[in-house]
Amino acid sequence: MTDQVEAPVEAQGLDAQTMAELREITTRYPQARSALLPMLHLVQSVEGRVTSRGIEACADILGLSAAEVSGVATFYTMYKRRPVGDYHVGVCTNTLCAVMGGDAIFERLKDHLDVGNDETTQDGRVTLEHVECNAACDYAPVVMVNWEFMDNQTPESATRLVDDLRSGVEVTATRGARICTWREAERVLAGFPDDRADEGPAAGPPSLLGLRIAKERGWTAPGDEKGRAGSPADTAQEAQDTSYSDRARSETDIAESGAETVGEDAGGTQNPKGGS
Ligand code: FES
Repeated sequence: MTDQVEAPVEAQGLDAQTMAELREITTRYPQARSALLPMLHLVQSVEGRVTSRGIEACADILGLSAAEVSGVATFYTMYKRRPVGDYHVGVCTNTLCAVMGGDAIFERLKDHLDVGNDETTQDGRVTLEHVECNAACDYAPVVMVNWEFMDNQTPESATRLVDDLRSGVEVTATRGARICTWREAERVLAGFPDDRADEGPAAGPPSLLGLRIAKERGWTAPGDEKGRAGSPADTAQEAQDTSYSDRARSETDIAESGAETVGEDAGGTQNPKGGS
């Protein structure tokens, strides 16, 4: 009987289903190499990070060199070369969030989780990272879990959030869906929906306040003074107005009173939903 030396996992190729799905992604684009970004997300959903064999698989399918794929994977911060935990917790420490409490949240979570930046807790549940602006400054300070928004956080609410995530309590994003695992979220980013896209609100009063004021005062965008009818932008706007009209009516007063008291509440308010 001959001893068979088993190849290390990293030296083995990706499984057949993953390879088939990687090829499927390429069919969505006129030029196959445009599929590289979602392909790397799929690799992460399977591997927990961008592995060497994931890079090789993408390169083989797309006719690129491993160096070219690696160059992309190391350029964008959403691609990870080290294993990520079940929940990637990104604390925005960009300017506005920082002064509104983001730095304090990040420091509290580092202590509470006993990890540094871009490190994972010993139980493998949470990876903590400070992230740049999430374009959610009207809800500063913002924390993201697997790229879903947790608005208006405080050190206390963020601590409860990570405790809930680690203990398996279901957490819902402030403006988004129930939180899934990082690998599941990566699969969605690869273009394989999980049917949660319509869960939860997509916009809130602070984001819609400017729109409401513009409508009340008859303000229009430059070049739109003559009131074009039925343009795609108008149609999309009307659809959004309809979707959120009830909520906007009921929350307008809250938004206005919030704007007046923001100076008194610089530490942020408690997240109204999930994890806080
Ligand atoms: S500075 Fe944090 S979301 Fe913009």
